[in-house]
Amino acid sequence: PHRPRPLVAGNWKMNGLRRDLGEIAAICAAVGAGDAGQAEIVICPPATLLMAAAPICKGSPVALGGQDCHIEASGPFTGEISAEMLKDAGAEFVILGHSERRLDHYEHDHLIQEKTKAAYRAGLSAIVCIGETRAEREAGEALPVIAAQLAGSLPGLSTSERLVIAYEPVWAIGTGLTPTLGEIAEMHRFIRLRLDQLLPQQGVKIRILYGGSVKPGNAAELMAVDGVDGALVGGASLTSADFMSIAAVY
Ligand code: G3P
Repeated sequence: PHRPRPLVAGNWKMNGLRRDLGEIAAICAAVGAGDAGQAEIVICPPATLLMAAAPICKGSPVALGGQDCHIEASGPFTGEISAEMLKDAGAEFVILGHSERRLDHYEHDHLIQEKTKAAYRAGLSAIVCIGETRAEREAGEALPVIAAQLAGSLPGLSTSERLVIAYEPVWAIGTGLTPTLGEIAEMHRFIRLRLDQLLPQQGVKIRILYGGSVKPGNAAELMAVDGVDGALVGGASLTSADFMSIAAVY
């Protein structure tokens, strides 16, 4: 069966000051020493830390990512950061459509699709997040919600191997709750099927990460689920020891 190189990404969200760069240095050292096994490792600190983190990661296998980008390359968009700027600061990835942006900033699928195109334009890989709310799952709507998010957020035929999907059920983020292993397997199988339909020939190369309360204590069982190609880690990525013990399951 299909088994791409796993990817473990850390999303620091709005956390991290310069004094926390030591955590990134520790991750680089551990990954350099082989502690992440087979996995590709990406850290997404706040944009303010990218330029300082870049020389730390240089020469190590750890890649950096941003957490959002604007659709334009430059222009009169106060407060915004473009994909080109992230790339210029040293990022190779960008997280797009995180539920905290979908819900708190009213980001809709079409905007996320445009941002994904912007990421490609700048030469970044996109980690596109999808996930149902608790109410949607309880209403039995999880699969159609995910299908709609995939159809609306992905940039169609122009896509490339630089696409990663992160399935993050909204109710599992920062709550300590996770779906059952069976529910995760079902959803990842469904996403894979949809990718094959939406992006014929290319879908098979796209990694599908699980995110939502991934911790050192549950990473091994979550990452062993059929169809899970890695993790998008929030809280546990802020501490290098926790993050590395998650990455080490590979
Ligand atoms: O993007 C990762 C995230 O939303 C999951 O957060 O803290 O539940 O691992 P957390």
